[in-house]
Amino acid sequence: MGEFQDKICVVTGGSRGIGGAAARRFCEEGATCFIVSRTARDVNEYAEKLRNEGYNARGLPGDVGNYEEIKRMTKEVMDQCGKIDVLVNAAGILRRKAGLEQTEEDWDAVVDINLKGAYFFSVEAARCMIAAGSGAIVNISSIQSHLVVQERSVYAATKGGMNKFTAGLANEWGSAGIRINSISPGFIATEMVMKVMNPELEEYIKRTHPLGRPGTPQEVAEAILFLASPRAAFITGIDLSVDGGFSTTK
Ligand SMILES: NC(=O)c1ccc[n+]([C@@H]2O[C@H](COP(=O)([O-])OP(=O)(O)OC[C@H]3O[C@@H](n4cnc5c(N)ncnc54)[C@H](OP(=O)(O)O)[C@@H]3O)[C@@H](O)[C@H]2O)c1
Repeated sequence: MGEFQDKICVVTGGSRGIGGAAARRFCEEGATCFIVSRTARDVNEYAEKLRNEGYNARGLPGDVGNYEEIKRMTKEVMDQCGKIDVLVNAAGILRRKAGLEQTEEDWDAVVDINLKGAYFFSVEAARCMIAAGSGAIVNISSIQSHLVVQERSVYAATKGGMNKFTAGLANEWGSAGIRINSISPGFIATEMVMKVMNPELEEYIKRTHPLGRPGTPQEVAEAILFLASPRAAFITGIDLSVDGGFSTTK
């Protein structure tokens, strides 16, 4: 019996990277896992791959930057399974640009996906969890919510906001049996980071992470599963750094 046997988990950004690793681990622990991302082909291929390995994965394509889509996806999970035990908000984008170059469109896209999307997916999932009297939400924030780094001012604003709404909702929803926490990864070797990787960034990561390397999606997934599990039954409203020690350098 896995730790998430018979649990219904929804992982946004679950087609690859940190969300992809978490979706796999929930499946390995016996969950039925709904995989959300915008690209239907990626979602369906990944869910099929996991099913071929014997796991209960289901594709749920959709855009978390659109509130109507969030409502539709939540309803689809409820129609298929009747409950949501765990929500992981891992969908996110980074537009790496200096502040003077950020456009209104950049702001809207990053805020809509990273902040508004995670907030309202939490709200819609919580409506289902309140009815059941329990649930766990894990939001994937970033070390950029704590450290000031150039060319990430909008991204950092969304992640700082995420930590704050996580604490605020933990305060509101604790009495309903819902725990909600966030995780702040340092640099993790996923597509998001590899897209902007260059020798200078490689050197920067080595210098700023006392463990001397970027993390892996699997290492973040382990922290996600911990916070979503009964092992973290008395933990809510926190932000957990999974950053190879990056935050000690601030
Ligand atoms: N990698 C790092 O170093 C790092 C560090 C700190 C925090 N984080 C955070 O960790 C999370 C995952 O990052 P990652 O590195 O794993 O990213 P990634 O490899 O780029 O994956 C991002 C995932 O989010 C999905 N996504 C993006 N926009 C979406 C939308 N509007 N609706 C639904 N799904 C959407 C993507 O699929 P589609 O594009 O097909 O929609 C993909 O599945 C993000 O929130 C990121 O900010 C990452």
